[in-house]
Amino acid sequence: MDERLVSSEADSHESVFEQSLRPRNLNQYIGQEKVKDNLRIFIDAAKMREEALDHVLLYGPPGLGKTTLAAIVANEMGVEIRTTSGPAIERPGDLAAILTALEPGDVLFIDEIHRLHRSIEEVLYPAMEDFCLDIVIGKGPSARSVRLDLPPFTLVGATTRVGLLTAPLRDRFGVLSRLEYYNQGDLSDIVMRTSDLFEITIEKSAAFEIARRSRGTPRIANRLLKRVRDFAQVLGNSCISEEIAKDALERLQVDRLGLDDVDHKLLLAMIEKFRGGPVGIDTISATIGEESHTIEDVYEPYLLQIGFIQRTPRGRVITPLVYEHFQMEVPKYD
Ligand code: ADE
Repeated sequence: MDERLVSSEADSHESVFEQSLRPRNLNQYIGQEKVKDNLRIFIDAAKMREEALDHVLLYGPPGLGKTTLAAIVANEMGVEIRTTSGPAIERPGDLAAILTALEPGDVLFIDEIHRLHRSIEEVLYPAMEDFCLDIVIGKGPSARSVRLDLPPFTLVGATTRVGLLTAPLRDRFGVLSRLEYYNQGDLSDIVMRTSDLFEITIEKSAAFEIARRSRGTPRIANRLLKRVRDFAQVLGNSCISEEIAKDALERLQVDRLGLDDVDHKLLLAMIEKFRGGPVGIDTISATIGEESHTIEDVYEPYLLQIGFIQRTPRGRVITPLVYEHFQMEVPKYD
């Protein structure tokens, strides 16, 4: 699963590669127009008032650029960014150490913020609201609470699971921005931009072909571009043509909609073994040999997004779009 070409999660080497491609300011950032328009206004207003920007929560599926946006926010505000993640903060003291090291106006970026421990969230509330820290010194009857002032800062939180955030934490963000899957035009512009940075030439139609198969996700688009570039290079072509892109993607087994062999296995099992459903997630899991939660978290979201699968109270059902995609007749069961 880790090797999956169309996974929206970054693999362990990928973050370095992604960092080199990252847009540095809002003007370089392609797509997500609504999010950008709002951020621009809030950033300008905060700068005019010479205040720290309000806390920002970025949420949405993986691979859409939440980390990139956090860095852009800091850059546009002209401040430093400190980066950590929910699971990395184990004790309240860890968070206190980070908070007390901030300079006025700095951005603290907490990725996967839904995975913060409750005890740490409680330290975060007064920090976000009043820029202060209540810490307990000592133990037992002699323990006392001391209040420490913090510099004003901006918390940028990112999560793929906004529903798991507690209400008190969510309510403390002034700006909530949901990132959406990218359309093909924007993704194809991203592929062109990345090609430019790689100093490779690519036909517009080839960029569009990669975009179409990238599941609305820049991370996947850039990964596919890298693989397609390898094919072009080995075949001795200096330019990625539409033909090379199509051929390479065919060989990589990423189909016209960005579905791979696991998606095919899942959909075909539902058709061939369960008449298209409804079928329970555990039954699908046992049939194709993938864990239920992997199916739910990794495979299903995109299939739901493109309308290939629907969730019903009686289980998962596939839609006529799947038969169309596989050029199969919709069977009539009696
Ligand atoms: N690379 C990855 N995501 C991008 C985006 N939204 N804009 C520009 N380049 C990107």
